[in-house]
Amino acid sequence: LEILLKGLRRLEYRGYDSAGVGIDAGNGKDWESNAKTIQLIKQRGKVKVLDEEINKQQDMDMDVEFDVHLGIAHTRWATHGEPSPLNSHPHRSDKNNEFIIIHNGIVTNYKDLRKFLESKGYEFESETDTETIAKLVKYMYDNRESDDINFATLVERVTQQLEGAFALVFKSVHYPGEAVGTRRGSPLLIGVRSDHKLSTDHIPVLYRSCSYNFCLYFFNFPAGKDKKSCNALPRMDQDTCLFPVDEKAVEYYFASDASAVIEHTNRVIFLEDDDVAAVMDGRLSIHRIKRRAGDYSARAIQTLQMELQQIMKGNYSSFMQKEIFEQPESVVNTMRGRVNFDNNTVTLGGLKDHIKEIQRCRRLILIACGTSYHAGVATRQVLEELTELPVMVELASDFLDRNTPVFRDDVCFFISQSGETADSLMALRYCKERGALTVGVTNTVGSSISRETDCGVHINAGPEVGVASTKAYTSQFVALIMFALLMCDDRISVQPRRREIIQGLRVLPDLIKEVLSLDDEIQKLATELYQQKSVLIMGRGYHYATCLEGALKIKEITYMHSEGILAGELKHGPLALVDKLMPVIMIIMRDHTYIKCQNALQQVVARQGRPIVICDKDDYETIKNSSRTIKVPHCVDCLQGILSVIPLQLLSFHLAVLRGYDVDCPRNLAKSVTVE
Ligand code: G6P
Repeated sequence: LEILLKGLRRLEYRGYDSAGVGIDAGNGKDWESNAKTIQLIKQRGKVKVLDEEINKQQDMDMDVEFDVHLGIAHTRWATHGEPSPLNSHPHRSDKNNEFIIIHNGIVTNYKDLRKFLESKGYEFESETDTETIAKLVKYMYDNRESDDINFATLVERVTQQLEGAFALVFKSVHYPGEAVGTRRGSPLLIGVRSDHKLSTDHIPVLYRSCSYNFCLYFFNFPAGKDKKSCNALPRMDQDTCLFPVDEKAVEYYFASDASAVIEHTNRVIFLEDDDVAAVMDGRLSIHRIKRRAGDYSARAIQTLQMELQQIMKGNYSSFMQKEIFEQPESVVNTMRGRVNFDNNTVTLGGLKDHIKEIQRCRRLILIACGTSYHAGVATRQVLEELTELPVMVELASDFLDRNTPVFRDDVCFFISQSGETADSLMALRYCKERGALTVGVTNTVGSSISRETDCGVHINAGPEVGVASTKAYTSQFVALIMFALLMCDDRISVQPRRREIIQGLRVLPDLIKEVLSLDDEIQKLATELYQQKSVLIMGRGYHYATCLEGALKIKEITYMHSEGILAGELKHGPLALVDKLMPVIMIIMRDHTYIKCQNALQQVVARQGRPIVICDKDDYETIKNSSRTIKVPHCVDCLQGILSVIPLQLLSFHLAVLRGYDVDCPRNLAKSVTVE
C-alpha cells in the first residue's frame, strides 16, 4: 500500500483532482484468500487526503491489516463527471468489487456501451466513461463460454469493444494475485525489479490469430526461432514469460509514467498499442491479437537513465523553481556530444539516416501544443533563415480541425516534452498516413511520439515535473536551433552566421546564470504586481514567442489574466487596453526590430502606460527612456529569446507564491494531456 501511495505522490506533478486505491482486503491467513476480497478507498483532492482516509479506516477496523499482494491506484484528472469519490478510480463492476479497473484516456463509445449494459440490468454509480469498462468485463466474465478463460483473454475481449484512447489495469477477485494491463493511445509501462538475474532481457510477444471459438497462440522468440504453437486458450506457458532465475524474487510495477517506479527499478518495458500484459504466478507475459507491419516479436527491457534524485525537489520550494534554476545545466545536456564548439559542427545521431531526405523536402511543419508550440514559434525565423524552406508552426488541435493538406515531401516535426500529448500524437498519425516524414522532438525516451516518429531528437533536459514547463522550453529551443544549424552545414555562404550562432550556444549557459541572478530583483517586482488582475506582455520578432510563453506561464500558475501581444499588432486593437493602471511588460532587444519596438514603447508611454521593459543591459537608450527595466545580457539575436523568457518564468513563479497558489499543481491543468 505504501508503494502504491508513494507511486501516486511521484505522479502528483501530472495534475489531478482525486485519487484512489483498490487492494486485497480479506482477513485470511494467506494472500490468496485475502485477494478474494477487494477494498476500494477513494477521495477527492490530494493523495495526502487519501492517505489520511486509509489511516482512519485502519484505525477503525483493527482487523484490517491491508497486507497487499497486488493493488492498483490512480490519480484522476476529471474529463467525464466532476471530481468526487464516486467518479474517482478504481471503478468497479458491482457492489462486491468483483472486477476493478483504473483507466487513463477517454472511451468515446461509452454511451452506447452503457446503454447496452443498462439494458442487461447493470446499474451505474458514476458519470464516467471508465465505469462502462468495469461493467463490461464482468459482463464478459458472466457470459464466458468456458470456465477456464484466463484473465488476459477476458481483457482482450473487452478492449475489442472499446473505441478511443486508454491505458488500463484490471484486478479481480476471480483471479487473485493477477493483474492485466493494456493500452491503446495512452502510455503504459511495466517496471521489472529483481535482485536476481532475469532469464532474458526481452519478453517475447504471443500473437494470436483469433476468433473466440478457435484460438491459436504463436510464440515468437526474439531471434524468430523456436516458433511453436499450441491449442486454444492455454495457461501461459513458462517459455513465453519473463521470469528470473529465482522466480520468487521478481516484482512488477505497471505505471503510466516512469517516475512512479524509478525508486524501485530503472528497468522497464514500454508496451505498444494493443499489447495485453498479464502478471500471473509471478510471471509476466505479453500477447496481442494482431501483428502489425514492422512489429517486433519481443519487447525489450530497457534501462532508464532517470535518477530518483532528478524527480526530487532538493532545496527548492517547488519543482518549477528547481527546473528554472536547472537551465544552465539542462541546455548543456541538450548540446552534449552534439555541438562541437572548436570546429563549429553539429551532429544529431537521431537524424543521421534521414537528414539528406529532410534537406530535400518542400516544407517544414512544426506541430505541438502549449509551451512546446511556443518553442516552434520561437525558432521559426532562424529555421526559415538557415533552411530557406517555408516553415509552418501549428497548434496540433487546430491543424487536425482544419484537415490541413500534408504531402509526401513535407517534413513534420512533433515537439512535445512528454511525448504523450494526445493532440500531437493524433496529428503525428495523420501526417504519417499522408506519407510525410515525421520527426519527434521530445524529452521522454520511450514515449509514444518518440517511438512513432521516423526519427528524432531527444532534448535530454531531464525529467520535468512542474506542470508549467520551463527547462523543456529552453531545451526544445536549443534542439531546434541545432537542427537548423545541421540543415545548412555544407552551405558556404551561411558559415559566418553558423559560427556566430554556435559560439552563442557556447556562452549560453553562463548568460542564463547571469539572468538567474536577477531573481531577487524580479521577486521584488512581483510584490508590486501580485494583486493586479491582468498583465500584458508585448514584443515582436524573435521575442513574440517569449510574450506568448510568458503570458502562458502567468495564466497557468497565477490565474491572473495575461496576454502575449505582437507589438506589430498593437495599434490594431490591444492599444485600447493601455492606460496608467494596466501593467505592461515590453521586450525590447537590439536586433532588427529594435526601432519598431522603440516606436511601440513610445505609443504605450503616450497613453500614460508605464511599461516594465526587458532589455539589453547595455542599451542605455531604452534604459533612459523607461521607468523600469529588467536588464539581461546580450547574445546572438536568434538565441536571445532564451534569455528574455527566463525573467518571465521567474516572475510567474514569484507571483504564484505571493498569491498563495500551489506552483507545481495549478488548478484544472495536467502536465501530460493524454486526452483530445
Ligand atoms: C499541457 C501542459 C503544458 C504543455 C502542454 C504540451 O498543457 O500543462 O505545460 O506545454 O501540455 O505538452 P507536451 O508534453 O506535448 O510538451
